[in-house]
Amino acid sequence: MKRIFPPAFYNLRTLIGAAIASVSFGLVLFLTVLDLFEGEQKPYIGILTFIILPIFVLFGLILVFYGIWREHRREKQGLPQDLKLPRIDLNDPKQRNAFFWFSFGALLLLIFSAFGSFKAYEYTDSDEFCGTMCHKVMEPEYTAYNSSPHAHVGCAKCHIGPGAGWFVRSKLSGAYQVYSTIFNKYSRPIATPIENLRPAQETCEQCHWPKHFFSEMRVSKSYFLSDETNTRWNLDLLIKVGGGNEETGLSGGIHWNMNIANAITYAPADRQRQIIPWIKVKSKKDGTEHIYRNLENPITEDSLALLEKRTMDCIDCHNRPSHIYHPPVPTVDHVISAGLIDSKLPYAKSIAVKALDQTYSSSNVAQDSIRLAIEGYYKTNYPQVASEKSAAISQMVSTVQKFYARNYFPTMAVTWRHFPNNIGHLFYKGCFRCHDNKHIREDGKILTNECSVCHTILAQSFGKGENSVSLDGVQYQHPVDIGDSWKEINCSDCHNAEE
Ligand code: HEC
Ligand code: HEC
Ligand code: HEC
Ligand code: HEC
Ligand code: HEC
Ligand code: HEC
Repeated sequence: MKRIFPPAFYNLRTLIGAAIASVSFGLVLFLTVLDLFEGEQKPYIGILTFIILPIFVLFGLILVFYGIWREHRREKQGLPQDLKLPRIDLNDPKQRNAFFWFSFGALLLLIFSAFGSFKAYEYTDSDEFCGTMCHKVMEPEYTAYNSSPHAHVGCAKCHIGPGAGWFVRSKLSGAYQVYSTIFNKYSRPIATPIENLRPAQETCEQCHWPKHFFSEMRVSKSYFLSDETNTRWNLDLLIKVGGGNEETGLSGGIHWNMNIANAITYAPADRQRQIIPWIKVKSKKDGTEHIYRNLENPITEDSLALLEKRTMDCIDCHNRPSHIYHPPVPTVDHVISAGLIDSKLPYAKSIAVKALDQTYSSSNVAQDSIRLAIEGYYKTNYPQVASEKSAAISQMVSTVQKFYARNYFPTMAVTWRHFPNNIGHLFYKGCFRCHDNKHIREDGKILTNECSVCHTILAQSFGKGENSVSLDGVQYQHPVDIGDSWKEINCSDCHNAEE
């Protein structure tokens, strides 16, 4: 047989190395081709294709060179070559048999590894994989995702989207993520927002047509105060979602003003984009531009020049479409109104909220402490209630425990406070990051927080008696008397205050 490579190549180490390298490389090619022909993008297969297999390729190559180097050294020292290749003589029945079985085995191995890598390929694309592969790290996002309106929309649909460019980008950042998970270098909690999230036009807008007109959306809520009787307060709102386009005549509302008719660019002064000193509105119709500045906290031109300028898209409002960590107050309101916590238990609202909103060292500690806190409270302060309503109290305990598990993740330091939700304005600044009466245009127009700009309050009712209803909207009344301060300071200044 004629040898194409120099003699030093023909030694056991080099040959094994070459075999490993070429099989792995073959698999990389196979998976890459598979990926090209698959219509949908399969994001996490990259971990296998571009990280794990290349390590084998590299290992094989190192072995090849090590073998060659060692042969050279032996040659210099005058030693005989390490390995003369065996001569295969197919006329010898023993050798023929051995050759046959060896080839058969090799073929089987090849088929199985192709099949195996195809299976691995499919698995790495599943949401289960994205959500659980780095289990501890992704647990909060995955748990929240599973109970969100997008639970059946794949992670990749929002985080990668179609097309080759973002696919490669996500591979590169995916490689870094694997590294940081293995070497425990990730931040706790994972930082939000994602700095290089793909623009919403290319992800959300595949499914939600931006010009689609939404009529007003009715939101009905029940609130319970932190008093002994858990006084109930009901509210009915119509949110002016809107949208539309001029051709059909239906246009207006939030989507229209904020997304379709104007291009709004802003300069966030913090990483979480909660502090906004500068806003530019450009009318898409006639191109006129206006600048709003926060005159209470002005920013110098020099500092402004250093800030990122972000054009608003869906994600600047809908930043938590899928991973929502609910604050305790609305959560408890919700379960009381659903009857999962008995509103006749004295101070139920206040006790439940307090039990949820503590810093616990681990989920197990939290679960036990929640039970002890609630049972202990009623035993000490309302012994009679504790014995008469023990079933209601244990239901309250298990409900609160369930909500803790869904919304708090001590190992990743995830709580609602770290993840502002920009829709609304009660628990986070949200819309009031700009609509706070403090952002003023060069001609004096104020970006108002006038309640009726975004919604109409149809009805409010308090405790047992008072009721106010009107289709034209009623004047807002804050459930507890805080004077006019709710008109002057942001709701979240009180409602997101640390204890
Ligand atoms: C409906 C679209 C959507 C889906 C589906 C989705 N995400 Fe997200 N995800 C987002 C958005 C939007 C953000 C926040 C981005 C921002 O604020 O910049 C985000 C943020 C994240 C973050 C950063 C930390 C945080 O909470 O802000 C991680 C990690 C994450 N997602 C993982 C996942 C995983 C894993 C899945 C699938 C189990 C998934 N996502 C499914 C839209 C989605
Ligand atoms: C693959 C399709 C798909 C993609 C991509 C997608 N969504 Fe959705 N979205 C849905 C479906 C399905 C629903 C559920 C509709 C329903 O419940 O009526 C939904 C519901 C919603 C809702 C209403 C939620 C509610 O509480 O009822 C909002 C807001 C929303 N999506 C925003 C977004 C944003 C922002 C993005 C991009 C980050 C996005 N969606 C990406 C399919 C998608
Ligand atoms: C200025 C903030 C803002 C922007 C920008 C924005 N939205 Fe919305 N959107 C809202 C509000 C407020 C609602 C009312 C629902 C709520 O309060 O949860 C809403 C509702 C929706 C709904 C649900 C409507 C329903 O009736 O269930 C969808 C879907 C939606 N938006 C998609 C989008 C998409 C897609 C984009 C980007 C093209 C977008 N939104 C941009 C604020 C915004
Ligand atoms: C980055 C700053 C910013 C944020 C955040 C923001 N807005 Fe706006 N909004 C503006 C600007 C600027 C205008 C245009 C004012 C003008 O026309 O001069 C506007 C206009 C509007 C209008 C029309 C106002 C009118 O007087 O007719 C509505 C409705 C609206 N926004 C709703 C919302 C809602 C709802 C949210 C939160 C989900 C929100 N905006 C968050 C900057 C913002
Ligand atoms: C820039 C638009 C905007 C302005 C101005 C505005 N709101 Fe809202 N408001 C919203 C949005 C968006 C929501 C979220 C609805 C939802 O929960 O889906 C909301 C929700 C609410 C809720 C229900 C909160 C909850 O989560 O239970 C109350 C109460 C409320 N607004 C009161 C007011 C009052 C009072 C004013 C006037 C001082 C006001 N709003 C001004 C946009 C606005
Ligand atoms: C000066 C502080 C302060 C400001 C500002 C403020 N609130 Fe409140 N709010 C309170 C207090 C205190 C309570 C009573 C809490 C309790 O009993 O649990 C309350 C209760 C509420 C409740 C019922 C409790 C619940 O279950 O959520 C709602 C809803 C509410 N406020 C909405 C608003 C809105 C909307 C704004 C802004 C327009 C606002 N608040 C501004 C202090 C404030």
